[in-house]
Amino acid sequence: MTGVPVAPRPAESPAPNPESGVTRALVARARRVFGGGTMHSWAIPDDATVVIARGEGAHVWDADGREYVDCHLGSGPLLLGHGHPGVSAAVKAQLDRGVSFHFFNPQVIEFAERVVAAVPCAEAVRFVSTGSEATFYAMRLARVATGRSKILKFEGALHGGQDYAAQSTSPGHPGALPTPIPDSDGIPAGATESVVIAAFNDLDSVRRVIERYGDDLAAVIVEPMQRALVPEPGFLAGVRDLAHAAGALLIFDEIVTGFRLAWGGAQERYGVVPDLATYGKAMAGGFPMACIVGQAEILAPLDGRRTDRSQMAWASGTLNGNPVSAAAGMAALSVLSQPGVYERLHHTGGRLRQGIEESGRRHGVPTQALGEDAVFGVRFMENSAPRQWTDLLAHDRALGLRWGMECLKRGLLVNPNEKFYVSLAHTEEDVDRTLQICDEAFAACK
Ligand SMILES: Cc1ncc(COP(=O)(O)O)c(C=O)c1O
Repeated sequence: MTGVPVAPRPAESPAPNPESGVTRALVARARRVFGGGTMHSWAIPDDATVVIARGEGAHVWDADGREYVDCHLGSGPLLLGHGHPGVSAAVKAQLDRGVSFHFFNPQVIEFAERVVAAVPCAEAVRFVSTGSEATFYAMRLARVATGRSKILKFEGALHGGQDYAAQSTSPGHPGALPTPIPDSDGIPAGATESVVIAAFNDLDSVRRVIERYGDDLAAVIVEPMQRALVPEPGFLAGVRDLAHAAGALLIFDEIVTGFRLAWGGAQERYGVVPDLATYGKAMAGGFPMACIVGQAEILAPLDGRRTDRSQMAWASGTLNGNPVSAAAGMAALSVLSQPGVYERLHHTGGRLRQGIEESGRRHGVPTQALGEDAVFGVRFMENSAPRQWTDLLAHDRALGLRWGMECLKRGLLVNPNEKFYVSLAHTEEDVDRTLQICDEAFAACK
């Protein structure tokens, strides 16, 4: 493979001692002080809950000293693995110069130039801290640009936790298009009413919704690879054409796919360039930063120098343009821009996908590793080519949870029923070990 520098192999660790009970004690403390007892809207059952104490390369160690191969990677940002030397050095250097300015700084200006040069649709950028903020502001910018209010999103697509995004991500009544089903209580009816839902990979469904709501449609937002569903040839171009014919914008949510599927993200991988895109996760090398990129004209209402407020898009944040995240992002992009990086990533992920599918079949479990090599989801179902969210209801989630927990217990860090993320730090031995654990987990589930 290539000579791309990756994080060093893990240093010696103390002998694991699961009986020490450190993890159990920490989880008990967390349950007492975290709202709802958990850190997210999902949680792993107590007997497989992990407290991560340290990460290095493609490995993490839990609070009891047990080592894991990490295929969760902080939910995607750690495309270079934990503690990549280039990223760590850039961050350490920045720590001595200052960690937060709220003003322009050389690091974020250079990073902005790099991101704008790399992303096909980007003429301008606005940095924020999280993906949820980025999708929120992208929707606002589309509303400002068009003077319209509605956003079309796809059933099963995830664009973060903000009110306009948390709609039909995982609906209790699937297929109830185009009316959104809020993913949370507490979302105002007005937010829900401004969203309409269509089915991924179904241009007729998009056409029907646009025929009905097109006059008030500001944008279509799409995850170009929706969770683990790849777009069928022509789908994304068809969505772009339908949106534009209705006078609406196309937003790609590339929080997962950006700098992961290819240097130019899903726009390069699938050959469709949107009007706006949101980036996050891998872009900033594991540090908190996301952005909205797109045509300069569409981002122009963000101009803080305007005195004429006739067209104004408000988007400020205390940590916008954070120099530490920018320094980390610059270092990460330097690695990712080297030749051979994406070939290596796809080779690693390709081996994993093929090996997991073969292992499942050997154990008599219909197993699909859906998605792309750099990020995929393991689903237990017969259909090897699901098109849309409702097709994924065939996935045996109970088995997915059991299998994921068996993987966790054997030293593979995954979030059951979610995605496998691949990094440049994963070696051939890591792939071998991962496949062995997956195989043992299948056997344990019998
Ligand atoms: C496609 C997509 N968009 C947006 C988000 C939200 O990003 P964040 O968690 O940084 O708010 C996520 C998070 O996983 C995501 O996968």
